[in-house]
Amino acid sequence: MRMKHPILAALALTLAASAAIASAAAPPAAEGRELASSQSCLMCHASGAVAKPLSAYTSDSEAQLQAAILDPKKALGSSTMMPPYEGKLSAGQLAALVAYIKAGGH
Ligand code: HEC
Repeated sequence: MRMKHPILAALALTLAASAAIASAAAPPAAEGRELASSQSCLMCHASGAVAKPLSAYTSDSEAQLQAAILDPKKALGSSTMMPPYEGKLSAGQLAALVAYIKAGGH
């Protein structure tokens, strides 16, 4: 496609850029998988060494998962080793992690 008009070309670039942003945010489960790694969840939840793999929690409700991630001592008991993620995750990141676990946690 040839762009003769500079404004049209700029518009096309803007659309292409926003499509790229939208597709980067599109699959929250995939984003959640990356977060599970970057937020160290998998240090404890990968092999079952410290805690069960995240795939063990797929039948939890979304509300249970959110509560456990944000405030584990309240949700799971004061002796849990899991650190709280309240204030460390954006709402979108929390949703992506929950979507990832609900999608199977693999
Ligand atoms: C320092 C180790 C550690 C880290 C890091 C950690 N967890 Fe945990 N997590 C635990 C332990 C221990 C439990 C208690 C239950 C168990 O042993 O399976 C737990 C429980 C949970 C539960 C509750 C499941 C249920 O209903 O019983 C969820 C969900 C969970 N973790 C998700 C995560 C996510 C998501 C992250 C990263 C954002 C994370 N955890 C980081 C150790 C950890």
